[in-house]
Amino acid sequence: MTKNVKLLVYRNPGNGDIRYERYELPISKGMSVLEALFYIQDHFDSTLAFRYACRGAICGSCGMTIDKVPMLACRVQVSTLKTAKKSINIPEFEFGDHSYWDKENEILIEPLPNMKVLKDLVVDMEPFWKFYREIEPYLVREWNDVAPESKQSPTQMKVIERLVYCILCGLCWACPVSNKNPSYLGPAQLAKADRFINDSRITKEKQQKVVSRIIKEDGVPACEKFFICNRVCPKNIMPGTAIKDIRDKWIKNE
Ligand code: SF4
Ligand code: FES
Repeated sequence: MTKNVKLLVYRNPGNGDIRYERYELPISKGMSVLEALFYIQDHFDSTLAFRYACRGAICGSCGMTIDKVPMLACRVQVSTLKTAKKSINIPEFEFGDHSYWDKENEILIEPLPNMKVLKDLVVDMEPFWKFYREIEPYLVREWNDVAPESKQSPTQMKVIERLVYCILCGLCWACPVSNKNPSYLGPAQLAKADRFINDSRITKEKQQKVVSRIIKEDGVPACEKFFICNRVCPKNIMPGTAIKDIRDKWIKNE
C-alpha cells in the first residue's frame, strides 16, 4: 500500500500575506523534500515558488527551513526526515503563525531565515552576494603574466581543501548575528576569505586587502561564536572554525 506524507508549507505571495498550506501526497521510493514540492506544483498548486537547479546537493539553490532546521531540500528524504538522527540544536525561527503544525506527522517547510522573502520559499540572496563580492573571492594575476597556470602542491591544496567545497547555499546565514546585525559579513563569506588568504597562489598585496576587510568591526570581530554555521552546513565547511582561525592568526596578537 502506498504511504502518504503530509506537508505544511509556508506561503507568501510577496506582500506579507502569510499563510500555511497543508498538502498530502503519496511517497515514492527515495522521494526528497524537493521532489515533494514538485509534486505539489504538478498536482495541487502550480504557483508554489521555490528554487532548485542540480537536484544533487551541488548548486546550493534549494536551501530552505525544514522542520525548523535549514537544509537542502534535495538532500533530505521525506520518509526518513522524522526518524533520522538530528544532533542539531539551534534557536527556532519564526516566519508566521503555524501553531496548528502537527509536529509528529507533518513536515514543516519554510524559507531560509534572515533573508527577505520574495515569494513562498524564494528569498532575496542579494545581501549574501553583496558581502560575498566584498571579500573579492578570486585570485588576481598580473596582466602581463604569461605563465600558463599557477600550480599548487597537494600539501598546499590540503590547507584550503575543506573551504573550497562551499556551495554558497546560504544555510549558514541562520546565524543569530546575521539576524540582528545586517552589516555582518556572514559565515560563508568569512570562510571564503579564509580560503583565499591561505591560498599559496595569492599575492601579499591581495592577501592584505582581504584581511583588512574581514578584520573590520562587521567582519570577524562581529562573530559571537554560536557555531550554528558549523552545525547546519551541508558540506562540512565549518565556517565558525574558519572564523576562529582568522581571529587567532590575524587579530589575537595585535
Ligand atoms: S559555508 Fe556551508 S552553509 Fe555556508 S554557504 Fe557554504 S556550504 Fe552553505
Ligand atoms: S537543487 Fe542544487 S543543491 Fe539542491
